[in-house]
Amino acid sequence: MNLTDWANELVKGECLKSKLLCVSECSESRFSKKQTRLQIDLPGRERRLKFSEKKLKFPKKNSFHLNEKKALALHSFANHELLAIEMMALALIKFPHQTTEEKELKMAIVSTIEDEQKHLKLYIHRLNELGFELGDFPLNDYFWRRMNGLETIQEFLASMSLTFESANLDFSLYYSKIFLEHGDNKTANIMDVVFRDEIKHVALGAHYLNLWKRERSLWDYYQEILPFPLTPARAKGTFFDRGSREKAGLPQDFVNKLENYIGDFQITNRRQW
Ligand SMILES: [Fe+2]
Ligand SMILES: [Fe+2]
Repeated sequence: MNLTDWANELVKGECLKSKLLCVSECSESRFSKKQTRLQIDLPGRERRLKFSEKKLKFPKKNSFHLNEKKALALHSFANHELLAIEMMALALIKFPHQTTEEKELKMAIVSTIEDEQKHLKLYIHRLNELGFELGDFPLNDYFWRRMNGLETIQEFLASMSLTFESANLDFSLYYSKIFLEHGDNKTANIMDVVFRDEIKHVALGAHYLNLWKRERSLWDYYQEILPFPLTPARAKGTFFDRGSREKAGLPQDFVNKLENYIGDFQITNRRQW
């Protein structure tokens, strides 16, 4: 098995075991020579993990003393990890890599997937401790739907690293505090692990888009390539953590503009996760 086979298994394999397949199972640490521009409409998912149209309200923070509400929150976070694994794996096979930079980026995405697999395992383990399993609540496809329209790896980085993972800096930090306030140190620790790794993941996007932005500012380039209907409003949570974005290497000017960005989504649509 090479890295292309591995990525294919993560996207198309249906069971959790496939999604969590370790990259060390690869006998060859290289991609197939033949690069195909794959279009995969839906990731493989066994019945209990299939996307659902049902929408559940994210639990209110003052209900986190109840195991079921806590599990619902963890389930939503786990869903994001599962989607991240599938979307990053799809990026490995969907977008071509010719230059040294593109090849290095692909290897960095491989190690990011390992982090996402670690996060998914941590959330599932905690869910199990609370008496729940992945698939006990509906799983939504919001992030996946954004993936299908992406044309380039640059658009992928703008959407994934600088938008979804950027927002998760705020969410993981915020919910770590909420779990701590409810005396759940175990879950708070998981959120801290995710938060620290997410800084690296945002840094990855910042690094490569900085290389490719040419004479534009990173902010202008980001806005230019961020595919509709995403806007920078999606790149932050209900509160904004500057420190982690600075640690991720985002320029001051970028952080300022993101902090001050007001979009329709933020005013009309933002619910708690
Ligand atoms: Fe993650
Ligand atoms: Fe991540």
